[in-house]
Amino acid sequence: MRFSYVCNDCGTENVTDEVMYTCPGCAKDCDPKEFRKGNLIVRLDERELRELRVKEELSYHDFFPYTVPDRECFPVGTTPIVRPKRLCSSYGLPNLVIKLDSALPSGSFKDRASQLIAAQAIAHGERRIALASTGNAGAAMSCAGAAYDLEIILFVPETAPVNKLMQSVLYGATVVPVKGSYDDAFALSIAYTERFGGINRNTAYNPMTVEGKKSISIELFLQLGRQVPDVIYVPVGDGCIYAGVCKGLLDLHAAGLIVKVPKVVCVQSTRSRAISQAWRTGKPLNVSATTRADSISVGSPANGRMAVRYINQTGGWSTEVTDEEILESQLELTGKAGIFAEPAAACAWAGLRKDAAMLREKFGEEVSVCVLLTGTGFKDMAVFEGRVELPSPIENSVEAVIARFS
Ligand SMILES: Cc1ncc(COP(=O)(O)O)c(C=O)c1O
Repeated sequence: MRFSYVCNDCGTENVTDEVMYTCPGCAKDCDPKEFRKGNLIVRLDERELRELRVKEELSYHDFFPYTVPDRECFPVGTTPIVRPKRLCSSYGLPNLVIKLDSALPSGSFKDRASQLIAAQAIAHGERRIALASTGNAGAAMSCAGAAYDLEIILFVPETAPVNKLMQSVLYGATVVPVKGSYDDAFALSIAYTERFGGINRNTAYNPMTVEGKKSISIELFLQLGRQVPDVIYVPVGDGCIYAGVCKGLLDLHAAGLIVKVPKVVCVQSTRSRAISQAWRTGKPLNVSATTRADSISVGSPANGRMAVRYINQTGGWSTEVTDEEILESQLELTGKAGIFAEPAAACAWAGLRKDAAMLREKFGEEVSVCVLLTGTGFKDMAVFEGRVELPSPIENSVEAVIARFS
């Protein structure tokens, strides 16, 4: 579909066939204490968008600015929708669903952006993609690279979690640990593409990352029989997934496929709450971040301004949860719904738990809610150390079995 780029801050529209990353004016206007400026929003051609309203066999790919080649080679999408009956009854919310993006090929939601970035690279005749990541985005891009035969150059801070790095190495990416922070790795990956060419997939820096993530809302709409829930819960770090979810809903609205845009809730850890605080205070200030949920531990959110804009535009709100509540949520999801989530993903569930009574009161018990489960628990087993005790072995005898159970 034809598209242009619109600056989230100054609103300037750019029409170009070239790959574009940030608004040349606003990106330079940078106060290190504040969220960065100049991120671009992909604006789809309005006429082509409206034509989708009458299309019968609709897919989220119809809303993409680039055509995704060989979809079955990297099958992203149609992730399961769980109706967790025990949790629905515990929280008095019968119309509650959980969307399991942990079932995507690399085990996280980030495959959605990586699919579109791969399509962008292929459309522009590029084989090399560079990015900075502390985990899931790197693993997802490396996974897509293995599937599409693309060269992935991954810059990581030297403290990045081993499990996720291991995944990227196994997928065949060139991993470059950097002695410095995520922000340092981010800047170096941009220096790399400026010098050596290729596509840069840094989250939010490349506007196609938000655009790829919007696929979840469109997919949800199609899976629910062309309906959207009243409220959607999203775990938030950089604010890119949050913006993607909102962008998908706004595109559905612009196409005339939905009348009302759901409220999208931004859930953050109290130990990493830059976007939540910016929404509450109106001040887009960077903060320090120390949450154990590594994927959402972000002090200077790469897509902070856009996320705050969309919280207001969708009539959503932010909910903050403690790291203890995140861990409890992980255990509840596993034990009462059979869903194994990494801490960042369980953060969204922790937000729902916190808000459940308010939701019933404000919207009524029939309110329909979707919680996005963005990554699998297998990626970070270390979080359970000291929390989960494995039973000791018994002697190989029936007497020992009887002793254990009596
Ligand atoms: C599993 C998971 N959930 C949530 C997030 C938060 O996404 P964002 O940083 O776009 O806010 C991430 C980001 O890495 C993630 O990996």
